Amino acid sequence: MQVIELSHHIGGELVAGEALLAQYNPADATDLKVAIPVADAALVAKAVASAEEAFGRFRDQGIEARSDALARVASLINAQSDELARLIARETGKTLGDAKGEVGRAARIFSFFAGEALRIVGERLESTRNGAMVEIEYAPKGVIGQITPWNFPIAIPAWKIAPALAFGNTVVWKPSELSSATGAALMAIIAKAGVMPGAVNMVLGAGETGAAICSHPGVDALSFTGSVATGKKVRMAAAERGVAVQTEMGGVNALLVLKDCDLNSAVETALNGAFLAAGQRCTATSRIIVEEAIADAFVERLSLRISEHRLGDPLDTGTHIGPLASKGQKELISRQSAAMERHPGAQLVFGGSAEALPECFFAPTLFDHAKATDPIAQEEIFGPVAAVFRVADYEAGLAMVNDSRFGLSAGLCTGSLRYSEHFKRYARAGMLMINLPTAGIDYHVPFGGVGASSYGAREQGRAAKAFYTHTRTTYLKA
Ligand code: UN1
Repeated sequence: MQVIELSHHIGGELVAGEALLAQYNPADATDLKVAIPVADAALVAKAVASAEEAFGRFRDQGIEARSDALARVASLINAQSDELARLIARETGKTLGDAKGEVGRAARIFSFFAGEALRIVGERLESTRNGAMVEIEYAPKGVIGQITPWNFPIAIPAWKIAPALAFGNTVVWKPSELSSATGAALMAIIAKAGVMPGAVNMVLGAGETGAAICSHPGVDALSFTGSVATGKKVRMAAAERGVAVQTEMGGVNALLVLKDCDLNSAVETALNGAFLAAGQRCTATSRIIVEEAIADAFVERLSLRISEHRLGDPLDTGTHIGPLASKGQKELISRQSAAMERHPGAQLVFGGSAEALPECFFAPTLFDHAKATDPIAQEEIFGPVAAVFRVADYEAGLAMVNDSRFGLSAGLCTGSLRYSEHFKRYARAGMLMINLPTAGIDYHVPFGGVGASSYGAREQGRAAKAFYTHTRTTYLKA
């Protein structure tokens, strides 16, 4: 078994600590153990002090130096893409193909923000007072605290760290304890690329380390992606101190399938959204809402296609679906699926908690005839579990799409312009997907939802500027 012993990374130095946490290859626990030290409040304070100390110098390096550094990070990620993808597959269970795609995405995000660093456009206006001028500038906020999840272990850190640096901020970052080795690999690349020491500081650990970042008075803004419960804690801590916060959480995302759609492509859309990446995407489809007229044919075809998907070793290129990320996740998803199986009404069509699979594997699981009162209709199941809800027509389907406190991504399969235009206007979600899976997003456009899914300014694309800068208005008279 390979053992990877990790260290924190503060002010350009590796800082060792006693390994109190461990993550194992979820497909084969005898293959890899990642030994993780845990940063306490004192070590988090050191990381924040390092980010504060670096801030002025980093900002004053100027936009070209920042842009160049981000571009170098992008090329190093690409140069190491095979080994990064293998590490992601072994540490989190993501299939090698998905992991490669994600690594490529992370590199493109750094390239995109290398460009954005050169485009921090302000405005200059005449003052209402004759002879005076007004300038509006976008200045860095300072030290950004970032907490990232394991399901996109390199892309989500990229879409938080790259914009933070592009706009001149410094960072204290905690990757998930389920993906800390990937986090450390990215941190090593950032250091190797010559990003100023102290501009990015990585502390490892779990909830308490995250809480120490959130409550530290030197942190000027907080960006978090993860669970609803932790997101709330992050927001409360930010409110207490009066600092900016963005939290990206879950979704119980719906795909509405109308009878005028192309059935085969709608099935592929549902399959991709619900089951790929073992359903471990906050944008995953868990509610597949189908017009009754085509529901039997749809469920039959979807079940067939699920049965053609191979569960297996994420490193094997023939594998479609890997394991869940940890034993804890497997227990959680099994409990949630079992609760659905017990619930009167919905019928299990495929998979389910009774399938005793080894390690962290969980079978793709499909329910039919689900109702709005079923657990899966209201609470996120972060695994390969989805349910078909049958509705009479588009109007009933749209009402069901909107019957959720979440609103991250919502999809529609239709051949009709009338329905797609109506859906774009009335579906309650931050991202609308017409004839596309609810999951799978671009990096050059805003990402985020409404309701319980997201809070604060949008991430990604040019929208990232709103969170990573503050607006400065200068009045001048010669
Ligand atoms: C995607 O669908 O490509 O944690 C990205 C998540 C989201 C990212 C989804 N923040 O799953």
